[in-house]
Amino acid sequence: MNDKKFYITTPIYYPSGKLHIGHAYCTVATDAMARYKRLCGYDVMFLTGTDEHGQKIEDKAREAGVTPQEFVDNIVAAPGGVLDLWKLMNISYDRFIRTTDAYHVESIQKIFKAMYDNGDIYKGSYKGKYCKPCESFWTESQLVDGKCPDCGREVMDAEEEAYFFRASKYAGRVRDLLLNTDFLEPKSRVHEMVNNFIDCEGGLQDLCVSRTSFTWGVPVDFDPGHVVYVWLDALFNYMTALGYQNSQYHDVEKFWPADAHFVGKEIVRFHAIYWPAFLMSMNLPLPKKLYGHGWLNFNGDKMSKSKGNVVDPHLLSERYGVDALRFFLLRSFPFGSDGNFTNELLIQTINNDLANDLGNLVSRTTAMAEKYFAGKLPQDKQSAELDDELISLAAGLRSRYEEQMEKFQFQNALEEIFKVIQRANKYIDENAPWALAKDMDANGPRLAAVLYNLLESVRICTVLLTPFMPESCGRIFAQIGADESARTWDSAEKWGVLPAVVSVTKGENLFPRIDMAKELSELDAIMEETKKAALPQLEVEPFLTEQVDFDTFCKSDFRAVKVKACENVRKSDKLLKFTLDDGTGTDRQILSGIAKWYKPEELVGKTLVAIVNLPPRKMMGRESQGMLISAVHMEKGEECLHLLMVDDAIPAGAKLC
Ligand code: MSP
Repeated sequence: MNDKKFYITTPIYYPSGKLHIGHAYCTVATDAMARYKRLCGYDVMFLTGTDEHGQKIEDKAREAGVTPQEFVDNIVAAPGGVLDLWKLMNISYDRFIRTTDAYHVESIQKIFKAMYDNGDIYKGSYKGKYCKPCESFWTESQLVDGKCPDCGREVMDAEEEAYFFRASKYAGRVRDLLLNTDFLEPKSRVHEMVNNFIDCEGGLQDLCVSRTSFTWGVPVDFDPGHVVYVWLDALFNYMTALGYQNSQYHDVEKFWPADAHFVGKEIVRFHAIYWPAFLMSMNLPLPKKLYGHGWLNFNGDKMSKSKGNVVDPHLLSERYGVDALRFFLLRSFPFGSDGNFTNELLIQTINNDLANDLGNLVSRTTAMAEKYFAGKLPQDKQSAELDDELISLAAGLRSRYEEQMEKFQFQNALEEIFKVIQRANKYIDENAPWALAKDMDANGPRLAAVLYNLLESVRICTVLLTPFMPESCGRIFAQIGADESARTWDSAEKWGVLPAVVSVTKGENLFPRIDMAKELSELDAIMEETKKAALPQLEVEPFLTEQVDFDTFCKSDFRAVKVKACENVRKSDKLLKFTLDDGTGTDRQILSGIAKWYKPEELVGKTLVAIVNLPPRKMMGRESQGMLISAVHMEKGEECLHLLMVDDAIPAGAKLC
């Protein structure tokens, strides 16, 4: 039995839209690590998946006019979806979890109940701020300039009956884990976590772990109306996917605790603080390592759909090949820091490293073996002192590479490989095989040795490049005549593994050079198109030509009003009933047919505009004293409505003129 085991995970992705290159970054890194460990002889479990619950998904599904399940199915499993992307990018995951899978839901319910029974989950009332896009609760003091500290967007007030997890109870142990062990890396992230969330004013706060304002989540089975907070649901995927608290799988004993969780920097907080605390509460062993990688920006700016600068991995794989893209991601950016993706850098990396250095080395070496020896090297070889440096550099590569890979420093590991590749190219120039070939009788054995040394160098580099570019490496092995035994981890540490009379076949060009200027202008044009396509297709209503005289206009009394309360009108799927402060001291009631666009709780506290001197009117048996003003337009054939919201600094009753 193999007792070398390795369990590695990616975050599970929100299927709220198409995945972009930033998402692919972490998955490619995890894939390279999983393949590397398999190469080293480990029994690997590589888990990825999708995180499918939460208000954001519920809202998006409503907008799209489908059920939340249909919505996520469409992004995860439909052609061009998440599963297809990972297939395209050659991601060798062993298991894929969807948090809507029945076995996971069952486990989460049991886990929630167990924490409730052991006293770590209790019922209280939640009052605070909520960032909808991030599905995160914040206290007032955690906000940055009144906005979500993670994404910088507006937060909303939230108050509801909710369950809480006693995170505060575990603050000391989590602090110790972060400060006194190597659990979290890079180290630079440790102090940020401890200072901002544990040693902050008020200490580590208990965490709200249930919601009642929406339904798309794992139901708390002993308290209908509550659904489990999406992060508790999502984090436990790392264990439920092994069969924890379910009978779908039976791998907990074998693979838990995880050897490495790879996650992006903005979700380190959940993984470094709450995840260990949840596990402590359940008396479970803690993961061995959490690595918080940096973000990929685009041309110095955060990638975002609304900015139209989201880089599409489908497009790039199609144009340059999956391996070139995988390689670029891990070669160009240090894994622990942010990286700036530019099209220039992508093309430059492909041209310099893959076309010039690696591609040239392979094609020159195989071409010369074919030309001078008809593809089969002779037994008779003559070594020279000139060989020593290359041989010792290549033979020692595996240990230098291993040292970097064990630290998840992909960029440095690749740098070590490319030092050997560059040295090998220089060795060609030093030995000038074309000059040796002029007198094959005298120089044949020397030329054979030179080519053999080049092939061996290529072989060792290719073994170690396999986790990054599996498909291309298979093709290089075939060209240089490396059979299975010459592709192994053990063989990468040895010199002279290829048979002396190795047979070589020159294949097609592995990495064609790209014309930078032409390519950049094509990519720019595609981006412009994508930006345009992402713009809403507005249909502006024709302007009225009939004029209104000023006095008539002035008769309309528009006022700023504040929403004190808002609720759905029973038996109506259109109407919302507003209780408004209009500055007079008496509440004003207005009914508005906007339930399709807004949830009542989103509007409480907002400052709106109403016309207040319309004659009162009855709607569904209730009186409406005015009308709220909205902006209305058509988009892709659908009516869209936005309530006019004004600065909250404007007092109730202020007249608009
Ligand atoms: N669903 C949660 C994770 C739950 S894990 C228990 C989530 N999903 S996500 O789809 O929003 O993000 C998934 C991962 O993609 C995160 O690690 C995030 O950091 C990463 N990236 C998203 N955009 C990124 C870049 N531009 N660059 C690098 N990684 C980024 O968070």
